[in-house]
Formats: sequence, C-alpha cells, structure tokens
Amino acid sequence: MVVTIDGPSGAGKSTVSRKLALLLGFAFLDTGALYRGVALAAQWAGLESDDEAAVAAWLEGLDLAARPQGGRFMVLLEGRDVEPFIRNEEVANLASRLSAQAAVRGHLLGLQRQAGVLGDLVAEGRDMGTVVFPKAEAKFFLNASPAERARRRFLELKSSQPGLTLEEVLADLNQRDQRDAARSLSPLKPAADALVVDTTSLSQEQVIALLLDKVRALAGKS
Ligand code: DC
Repeated sequence: MVVTIDGPSGAGKSTVSRKLALLLGFAFLDTGALYRGVALAAQWAGLESDDEAAVAAWLEGLDLAARPQGGRFMVLLEGRDVEPFIRNEEVANLASRLSAQAAVRGHLLGLQRQAGVLGDLVAEGRDMGTVVFPKAEAKFFLNASPAERARRRFLELKSSQPGLTLEEVLADLNQRDQRDAARSLSPLKPAADALVVDTTSLSQEQVIALLLDKVRALAGKS
C-alpha cells in the first residue's frame, strides 16, 4: 500500500509522515531530501543551475540513490549520506529552483517510483498524489496558515541558524511556496482524491491520529 502526503513546507508533513510510517510499519520516503540532494550536488559541483541544458547533461553523471535502511530511505550522493548537509535554507532554495526543471523532475521520478515497488510506503513531497503515485490507496494534503508554517520552520531552524528572524523565514517561505505552486511542471496542489487537512490549530498527535484512522479504514476495505 502507498500513502502519499503532500503540502507546502511547514505544514507538518515531515514529522507526521515519519511517525505515521513507523506506526503503520511502512517505509518512509522524504522526496524533498532527493531534491535537496540534487541541489547539494549542484552546489558542490559549482554548477550554473539556471542553465537547463547544462543541468540536464550534468544529471547523467550524477550518482544519487535512495537506499532503504531502518524503515526509511537514505539519500546517498556518491555513496555518502547527504542528511547532515541538506537541512539549510540555501540548499532548500536551490532545490526549489532546480525542482522546476523538467530534467530534474524526470531524473528523480524513477528513483521515487522504485521506492514504491519495494513494499508498503509513506511518501512525502509536493506531487506524490498527483504525479509520482497517482494510484496510491491513501492520499493526504496537509496545509496550514503561512504565519503558522513560518513559526514552525523558525523553531526548527533557530538553533542551527541563530541570526535568522521570523520575518526572514516567512518571506523565504512565501517565495518558495509561490515558486512551487506557480511552476508549470507538477505544481504544488492537492490530488483530486486527496483528503485536505488544515493543521493550523491541530497538534501533531491529532494529525497523526486522523491520518492513521483513515489509512486503517482504507486498508480494511482493500
Ligand atoms: O520538502 P522540502 O522542503 O525538503 O523540499 C525542498 C524543495 O524540493 C521544495 O521547495 C520543492 C521541491 N520538491 C518538489 O518539487 N517535489 C517534491 N516531491 C519534493 C520537493
């Protein structure tokens, strides 16, 4: 069974998806980490990221993989776990810019779908329910007000980036949302058959309980 969780950043997708996967005994795939892995590699290579032809040619030699390990998919760049290097705003912004390019999306599509054939999966991203797993049995779209999403991102980032202000996080988030939703390829939007959940005034536990109930009900039917 594949469960998809899409939505903008700060809507609570990551923690909810990870915990939901754990409770269901499903593997967890964070597809944003794949886009961030591409961005990190581009940064390290000093690539001119707005040159689409150059990016497409460079992707052919890119050694990026998603390997199942301990209930989640680890993103490996040339065999190295990228996790310690990708959770910052610079990589996030470059990932958002690169993710609008067809060659990048096409390159990652196969990697993401492969994860779905290995077994039960919770897949989190922007286009899981619309493009990558259109036949998923359970689809969710998490959202929250921009102010609440910025507050959550700020709390996440403030220890690693002490100079950052809430206003900067909000401005960054608005810019990234705008770009992710306005792009012509796989824009951020709920699948027609997704359950849209506004998490603004819900706790993580409430969101998880809601999703868990829904998935169990759907699994019982199939
Ligand atoms: O979820 P995240 O913040 O780690 O994602 C980083 C960027 O990657 C995000 O701004 C848009 C892009 N992305 C995407 O286009 N499609 C996905 N399925 C996941 C992420």
